[in-house]
Amino acid sequence: MSNLDLIQLVKEKVQLLKAYRVENIDCEIKLHANENSFPPPPEILKQFEEVFKSTELNRYPDPDCGSLKQTLAKRLDVAPENLAIGNGSDELIQILLQVFCDPGETVGFPDPTFAMYSIIAQGMGLKSQTHPLDDQWDFKAEPFLETMEASQARIAFLSYPNNPTGNCFSAREVQKVIENFSGIVVLDEAYHDFAGKSFLSELPKHNNLIILRSLSKIGLAALRVGYAVADPIIIDQIDKVRLPYNSSTLSQKLTERLLNHFAPVQKQLDALIKERDRMIRELSKFKSFKVFPSDANFVLFRVKQDSDALFKQLMESGILIRDLSSHPRLKNCLRVTIGTPGENKAFLEKMSHIIK
Ligand SMILES: Cc1ncc(COP(=O)(O)O)c(C=O)c1O
Repeated sequence: MSNLDLIQLVKEKVQLLKAYRVENIDCEIKLHANENSFPPPPEILKQFEEVFKSTELNRYPDPDCGSLKQTLAKRLDVAPENLAIGNGSDELIQILLQVFCDPGETVGFPDPTFAMYSIIAQGMGLKSQTHPLDDQWDFKAEPFLETMEASQARIAFLSYPNNPTGNCFSAREVQKVIENFSGIVVLDEAYHDFAGKSFLSELPKHNNLIILRSLSKIGLAALRVGYAVADPIIIDQIDKVRLPYNSSTLSQKLTERLLNHFAPVQKQLDALIKERDRMIRELSKFKSFKVFPSDANFVLFRVKQDSDALFKQLMESGILIRDLSSHPRLKNCLRVTIGTPGENKAFLEKMSHIIK
C-alpha cells in the first residue's frame, strides 16, 4: 500500500492554480455559458443522423481534419494550409502558448477579459501582463502597446468581441496593435457571428496575426470545435505540438454538415441578435441597472443591489446566469447569455418579480 503526500508531488505552479469552475447546476434555463440556446434545427439533425449511420467509430479520426479544413477554407476564402483545428478554441490558446512561450515569459491582454488566457498561462508557468480597459471597456493602442512591449509579451490576446464585457474594441486601436506589436497578436473572434466584424481580411498583410474562431457559440458546444486561421508557418508549428487526434471524427463531420447547411443556423443567429437588442432595451428599463452595449450573444449589466443575492434568487427559480463580481472591476456585475425568446421572457419576468 502507498500513502504518499500527493500534493507535494504536484508542480508548485499547478498547486497554486485555481480550477476554472463553470457552474454546472441543473437549472431549467441555462443562460450562463454563452452557448447557442437553440438546439440544432431539424434539417441539421437529419444531416447528423446520416453522419452517425456512416461513421466508422472503430477507426481513428482523420488526424489532419482534411475535409473539414477544405470546407472552412472555402467559407473563409483562405487556403487549407492557413487552418488548424482545435478541441475547442481553448485548446488552440493552450497550443499557441506552447508554440510561442517558454516558462517565465509573458503573455498580455486587456483586463477584464476571457479568464482562460491567464489560467492557461499560469498553468504553463507563464506570466500574465494585463492592461486595464477604460470605463467603456475600450483601450488606446499606444499605452496598450507600451505595456506589452515593456513586459516583452510574446503574445497579445484580444477577445473581439470581448468576453465578458460584450463590446468590440475600437477597430482603429486594434488595427494599430496589429500593425505595431512586435510579437504575435491573437484576435479571438469566438463571438464573431454575433458581431459581424472581423480582422480576417488583415491576415495576408500581417503574418503575426492569428484569428481564433469557435463553433461553441453557434450551436456545437458539445462537440468542442475551434479553429485558428494564420500564416502556414504558424500552422506548421501548431501541428508539431498538437496531439494527432485532437478532433474526433464526429466533431469534424458534424461541423462540416452544419457549415454546409448553414441557412437554418443563420436564422437562429439572426433571431439571437434581435433578442440581444431586445434584452438590452428591456434590462435598461430597470432603473437600478447599468447595461453595457453588446456585440456578442450575451449582455453584461451592473446592478445596484447585491449581485450575489440576485444571482442566487434567479438560480433558485431555475434560471442560471453568470455572477462576475469576484473580479475587482466587475463588482455587482452579472452576465446573461441570450436565450430563446421564451427563456428571455422568463428571465425578464423573474427579474421584475425579484426587483419589485
Ligand atoms: C473569448 C472566448 N474565447 C474562447 C472561448 C472558448 O471557446 P471554445 O468552446 O471553442 O473552447 C470562449 C468561451 O467562452 C470565449 O468566451
